[in-house]
Amino acid sequence: MIKIGIIGCGHWGPNHIRIFSQLTNSQAAMCADISEERLNRIKQSFPGIRTACDYKQILDDKDIDAVCIASPTDTHFKISKEALLKNKHVLCEKPLALKPEECRELKDLAQKQNLTLMVGHVFIFNPGIVSLKQYIKSGELGTIHYAHSTRTNLGPFRYDVNALWDLAPHDIAIFNYLFDSCPLSVSARGQKCLGTSLEDLAFATLDYPNNIIANVHVSWIDPKKIREITIVGDKKMVVWDDLDNLGPIKLYDKHVEKTATFYETYGEFQLLSREGSITIPKITVSEPLKLQAQHFIDCVTKKAQSSLANAQHGMDVVKTLCAVQESMDKKGECVFITPSA
Ligand SMILES: NC(=O)c1ccc[n+]([C@@H]2O[C@H](COP(=O)([O-])OP(=O)(O)OC[C@H]3O[C@@H](n4cnc5c(N)ncnc54)[C@H](O)[C@@H]3O)[C@@H](O)[C@H]2O)c1
Repeated sequence: MIKIGIIGCGHWGPNHIRIFSQLTNSQAAMCADISEERLNRIKQSFPGIRTACDYKQILDDKDIDAVCIASPTDTHFKISKEALLKNKHVLCEKPLALKPEECRELKDLAQKQNLTLMVGHVFIFNPGIVSLKQYIKSGELGTIHYAHSTRTNLGPFRYDVNALWDLAPHDIAIFNYLFDSCPLSVSARGQKCLGTSLEDLAFATLDYPNNIIANVHVSWIDPKKIREITIVGDKKMVVWDDLDNLGPIKLYDKHVEKTATFYETYGEFQLLSREGSITIPKITVSEPLKLQAQHFIDCVTKKAQSSLANAQHGMDVVKTLCAVQESMDKKGECVFITPSA
């Protein structure tokens, strides 16, 4: 039984408490939040959990094996570092930190301490996203031309990070996972429409190896809640829509063919669209957060790093976010990303 301490019990932390309470091989033993009111609410829903206003009480508790950090983004590096130094395994919410150097330090520290350090890139555990990966890997889509993601809604607003740092870690983590790589360069625009110091929306174009171009649109001032990714290959196309009740995946047997016919007026070939059927495959429904938590517990039990969402993956996402932010600050200038050693 792995005993977990959850740090940060705001909007998201209670989901981790619920999940770690449900798994057979973990226990949500303790939680911490600077807000007494948040802790009182947790006590009502989870009477067995011990609470603390200072997360250091969790780190000092010899009974706690691991921590799950769901406090604001600018606390992730500090709390993760202190937790690793106190010999606790760490599952840290996205993004792992605000700078690649901080991610590197955490990665090295986890290795030195022989502790699991995982990032909450929960969409990597989403069965729909896993099936996108299978379509790409099996070659069913053919050569990938481009990908496009939309993650929009009206709110919830954040006051610690902008919409890019809040929402895009998900899409960048997904694309890095799907294309087995970090982008080579990025170009992005953002806008502070609500008059705060933070961008409320961003449009980022990421260049992946093999000529794959991926576009990310994130916004918290949009009329529609959308969680969608389109991937276009030269054989088939696929759309993932996390909110579609019919099923999250639609596979389109559509592609464009070049005819060998020569036309005087159209040049050497003609492009013809080929339209086949649309398939909605059955995807087994499993809560991604639960799959993520189980994977973390398995890694902790084996004292291993995650193969899916380890510190290196977390660092690649933070590197990309920094490059996108730099490009936004420079009104769309192309920013190159140096590959990690
Ligand atoms: N994976 C996902 O899908 C997902 C979804 C939502 C949020 N998140 C991430 O979870 C984290 C928290 O997001 P949220 O929406 O719950 O934010 P929130 O603001 O609702 O909650 C944060 C909580 O942390 C507490 N806190 C602040 N400083 C603290 C400290 N030093 N020690 C202990 N508690 C502290 C606050 O009092 C608050 O209750 C963020 O990093 C966010 O990116 C991830």
